[in-house]
Amino acid sequence: MGRIFITRELPFDAVDRLRAEHAVDVWERPDPPPPEALRERAAGADALLTMLTERVDEALLDAAPRLRAIANMAVGTDNIDLEAAAARGIAVGNTPGVLTDTTADLAFALLLGVARRLPEGAAEVRDGRWGPWQPAHGLGADVAGATLGIVGRGRIGDAMARRGEGFGMEVVHSSRSSGIPLEELLERADFVSLHTPLTPATRHLIDAAALERMKPTAFLINTARGGVVDQAALREALIGGAIAGAGLDVTDPEPLPPDDPLLDAPNLLVVPHVGSATVRTRARMAAMAAENLLAALAGRPMPYPAT
Ligand code: DGY
Repeated sequence: MGRIFITRELPFDAVDRLRAEHAVDVWERPDPPPPEALRERAAGADALLTMLTERVDEALLDAAPRLRAIANMAVGTDNIDLEAAAARGIAVGNTPGVLTDTTADLAFALLLGVARRLPEGAAEVRDGRWGPWQPAHGLGADVAGATLGIVGRGRIGDAMARRGEGFGMEVVHSSRSSGIPLEELLERADFVSLHTPLTPATRHLIDAAALERMKPTAFLINTARGGVVDQAALREALIGGAIAGAGLDVTDPEPLPPDDPLLDAPNLLVVPHVGSATVRTRARMAAMAAENLLAALAGRPMPYPAT
């Protein structure tokens, strides 16, 4: 029997599956455990089930000498020092595949939302500002016939491309191994959608210069990681009219404080990192994380290894 620390209550039967075979300790609060608490609770654990909010760095790994396995309930693993874990022989797993369509749906919802100015229209109705029909009121951008530029062509990028094609868009992409150069994509696309992991190479990939390359009528969609975009530059681009709008599921930091200067920018739709948030997908993610730990603690390879 191993000892598992789970960093959040999971509203699914994954915890029961782990409890059937192991001693399970669950962080009792809705907020993530602060680093010190995480270190304390991980200290005696053989395995961790973490969220993307937990920083699993060398300091944490050093504080947890028994650790054999980490299951991240996310496809992204930028919160985990994978090299440091590998150096200590700790298996790391994630949850690829199950959230692909769910996340691409949200990316496309953001795209449609900003193209057709839905937040602005909804606010007008709620605030009692819905005036008589006007020929030039609420004019947005067409999606059919527009060019969708996909940055990063993994599973979610592919799923986004399928959605774009279904809506009659011309789809181009730029990734490390295929597609067109990023500069060309930024210049051609009417909608730029980010689907690249956050790594040292992609941090602030979309900076002031990249935003400057985009058309003033173009929109930026980010469902990847907040750190891929230089948020201060994005604010300037939105305020200065260098681009037409942005739809973000991810920001840096998260949560974004309500007084963050970014939120003053026009034509901006921000939702709170809900890309994978459907009942079915989150249940599958929790199940995969549990399966990763059950396998690793039984001495078998994880079914969904991160590397
Ligand atoms: C992930 O899995 O990496 C997503 O960002 C969380 O849904």
